[in-house]
Amino acid sequence: MKFFIDTANLEQIKEAEALGVLDGVTTNPSLMAKEGIKGEAAVLKHYVDICNIVDGPVSAEVLSTDFDGIVREGEALAKLHKNIVVKVPMIKEGIKAIKYFSDKGIKTNCTLVFSAGQALLAAKAGATMVSPFIGRIDDSNWDGVQLIEQIVQVYENYGFVTEILAASIRSPLHIVQCAEAGADIATCPLTSIEGLFKHPLTDIGLAKFLEDAKKMG
Ligand code: G3P
Repeated sequence: MKFFIDTANLEQIKEAEALGVLDGVTTNPSLMAKEGIKGEAAVLKHYVDICNIVDGPVSAEVLSTDFDGIVREGEALAKLHKNIVVKVPMIKEGIKAIKYFSDKGIKTNCTLVFSAGQALLAAKAGATMVSPFIGRIDDSNWDGVQLIEQIVQVYENYGFVTEILAASIRSPLHIVQCAEAGADIATCPLTSIEGLFKHPLTDIGLAKFLEDAKKMG
């Protein structure tokens, strides 16, 4: 399973990269706004800064909702760096654009996916990745992990190569559940990745080993 970090915060990206287990980055307009990045030039520079930290796919989201706009933005984003993946919303115009990008060899991440039917459309259009938002599904009183299982099954049935990128992860448990379900990638906040380290028996065991080591002289 690949680990992506779901943030536009450069310090957190550097911290995750230093762990040695980071495979890529996802961003979205909300995450970019949170970092106070304003204006087209600053946004584009920020994506390049992220690409210079992590040698892996970096999702950069388009803001247009019409085919021509999505294509124009996506082509400009893809030219920024070889690792840019154009993030496109799950709407009719988005699916048309994903098919266009796929034919041109431009990588895409179909975002805002909340059902297996939407994931099927994304795969048929040739999306490189599909992003089911599992935390937001849980928030609405459904089971986000169950959706991952369903998409894994559908993609296996037909041999789709679109990677399942579990997004809107809220906890280390979500990561493990998505791994069990067979998601190809989990994109997570740094806190969820760091949560995977934690087990009280590890801390107790290490303290005991270090205490006993003192007896070794
Ligand atoms: O990048 C998309 C996704 O991970 C958003 O997560 O926490 O805003 O639901 P969240």
